[in-house]
Amino acid sequence: MSSATKKVYVKSYGCQMNVLDSERMIDTLVPQGYAATSEAAEADLILLNTCHIRERASEKTFHELGRLRDLKTANPDLLIGVAGCVAQAEGAEIIRRMPLVDLVVGPQSYFRLPDLVTQAQSGNRPVDTDFPAEDKFDHLPRRRAVKGPTAFVTIQEGCDKFCAFCVVPYTRGNEVSRDAQKIIAEVNDLVEHGVSEVSLLGQNVNAYRDPNGVTLAQLIHELAKIKRLKRIRYTTSHPNDMGADLIAAHGEIEKLMPQLHLPVQSGSDRILKLMNRKHTAADYVRCIQKLRDVRPDIIFSSDFIVGFPGETDDDFAATLELIDAVNYGSAFSFKYSGRPGTPAADRPSLPLEVMDARLQILQAKITAQQHATQNSMIGRDVTVLIERTGRHAGQMTGKSEHMYPVAVSAPDARIGDLVRVRITGTVANSLLGEVLAR
Ligand code: 5AD
Ligand code: SF4
Repeated sequence: MSSATKKVYVKSYGCQMNVLDSERMIDTLVPQGYAATSEAAEADLILLNTCHIRERASEKTFHELGRLRDLKTANPDLLIGVAGCVAQAEGAEIIRRMPLVDLVVGPQSYFRLPDLVTQAQSGNRPVDTDFPAEDKFDHLPRRRAVKGPTAFVTIQEGCDKFCAFCVVPYTRGNEVSRDAQKIIAEVNDLVEHGVSEVSLLGQNVNAYRDPNGVTLAQLIHELAKIKRLKRIRYTTSHPNDMGADLIAAHGEIEKLMPQLHLPVQSGSDRILKLMNRKHTAADYVRCIQKLRDVRPDIIFSSDFIVGFPGETDDDFAATLELIDAVNYGSAFSFKYSGRPGTPAADRPSLPLEVMDARLQILQAKITAQQHATQNSMIGRDVTVLIERTGRHAGQMTGKSEHMYPVAVSAPDARIGDLVRVRITGTVANSLLGEVLAR
């Protein structure tokens, strides 16, 4: 078989960083003669880029491996690799328990995939879950042609916060920030290829501080100088790392979009302490207020965990109060899931019915706030970055400044255009709008 005909299928689970890592994994394999496929059945190599954040997410990996067994029986030359955070957490255990897995690679060492695949081809079953000292990005090939006007850029990885429920500090390691100059070069390159919006990614992105001391606020100021770059976003942040310069940047930089994902997890000070969040509910609300002072139209989203061990009805009521005080544009909410190796894992968990009931109440509140925020947009003018053609003839879809999807009747608009749109209505999670005269 000629090497140019080999196909790789990558399935990504979990966060945005995994989605980007999956693309980069393919980039490393292209020089080896691999091309990406969206069909697992025609692949010579299947990589599962896994997520370990909650039990349900981890289980998906093992469920999927079970399903791949038939493909492996049909094609014994098929190579199967487990990458990402389950790989990092379980490492050699996966190789021991799952004979169909040919290689295991963690999120910090996937730049070594070509070598690991070669080893797997010769019958070894390598496990690479190192945290190499060298900068993984220096070893990755240049990004292939980008698709569309928006792109993610990893600027920081890892987390030093050690929230009591979270596996991230163990699976992704200590906080490491990429050199600002390299990020600026990457963004310039993306812009040259038609990108006009970048989302800066990091597990704890606002703790960003490059080896020369450049902060996230300074980096955003530099990126904003790139003329053809129109929009900047960043995610995910910790409230304690919202420094004064970053808050000020929201008022100073027009290109920094007025939408911020700022997870709080709980509104109870007692639970926040048990979670080792190192801030109170009032600290968080003060931070939100400071951001609103400099950027009054900013809209917030958050993550919430219900049923953290020890959470009482009063604690949960405090979370609902905080939601009322903030008024969110959207939020993600999860039932607590004990994760092996984390400090909270051994604490007695709450009954599932209690968690289910609390989750429903919290989600109903968030949905109501989301709908109210969306409805408040009706009659207002927003700017939409057109990302693709819509479902109906003459319709295009894109995102507003606040990251709401907008379906626009705009027969003349092209992908990548920034258009002014009057919002006329809402459907489900999307806004509807008409293009204003250009
Ligand atoms: N159980 C439930 N939710 C969790 N998250 C992280 N760890 C857990 C866990 N053990 C949630 C947090 C975090 C988001 C990415 O996932 O809300 O912000
Ligand atoms: Fe996990 Fe976020 Fe806490 Fe870090 S700050 S430990 S990534 S929840």
